[in-house]
Amino acid sequence: MNVIVISSSPNTDGLTAACATAAVQGAREAGASVEEIRLNDLNVGMCEACDNGWGTCLPDHECQVEDDFQPLHARVRGEDAYVLVTPVYWGEMSESAKAFTDRLRRCEATLRDASHLAGKPVIAVAAAGGSGGGMITCLLSMERWIDHVRARKFDLIPVNRWSREYKLVAIREAARTMVQEATR
Ligand SMILES: Cc1cc2nc3c(=O)[nH]c(=O)nc-3n(C[C@H](O)[C@H](O)[C@H](O)COP(=O)(O)O)c2cc1C
Repeated sequence: MNVIVISSSPNTDGLTAACATAAVQGAREAGASVEEIRLNDLNVGMCEACDNGWGTCLPDHECQVEDDFQPLHARVRGEDAYVLVTPVYWGEMSESAKAFTDRLRRCEATLRDASHLAGKPVIAVAAAGGSGGGMITCLLSMERWIDHVRARKFDLIPVNRWSREYKLVAIREAARTMVQEATR
């Protein structure tokens, strides 16, 4: 079973990174082959709403804005399960998470039940390292995204500075359980 853990903070040693590491550990413990991607290491730009608003994403389910999105899209299509970890910025996903999920949604949601993510489990993690606010609004938009691409909400996990210690345990357990359940 192949799991991809996608994180989206510029910090390599912050709360978001710790959450991603916990997910990687849990999935590996359950025997999954795990790939970790840091979106901030890639060049994945914003959706350009090409042409009349729909570019090739509607008819071809591919994005015509050429950057690191295309190879990542190809990898994501082949995964069996997903963990998305974002820092909370303004009560929303980080810009790198938003850019990637927006473009992926256009390509996959337009496939409806044939979406490459259809029925596959997703764990969404919102890491609020500042005031601790905005986790729920961030998770709301992640939940909507999961629905749009027809994936399955395995868990939605809010984390802040005060809950860090026990939420890292929960993320690890969630990833482990997700793999165990999917390979049963
Ligand atoms: C532009 C911006 C907006 C932010 N908005 C929030 C917020 O709404 N709530 C919050 O708790 N933290 C907020 N933060 C703090 C981040 O959530 C915190 O930096 C996050 O945990 C990322 O830290 P990390 O990169 O070390 O994981 C914000 C940070 C930035 C840079």
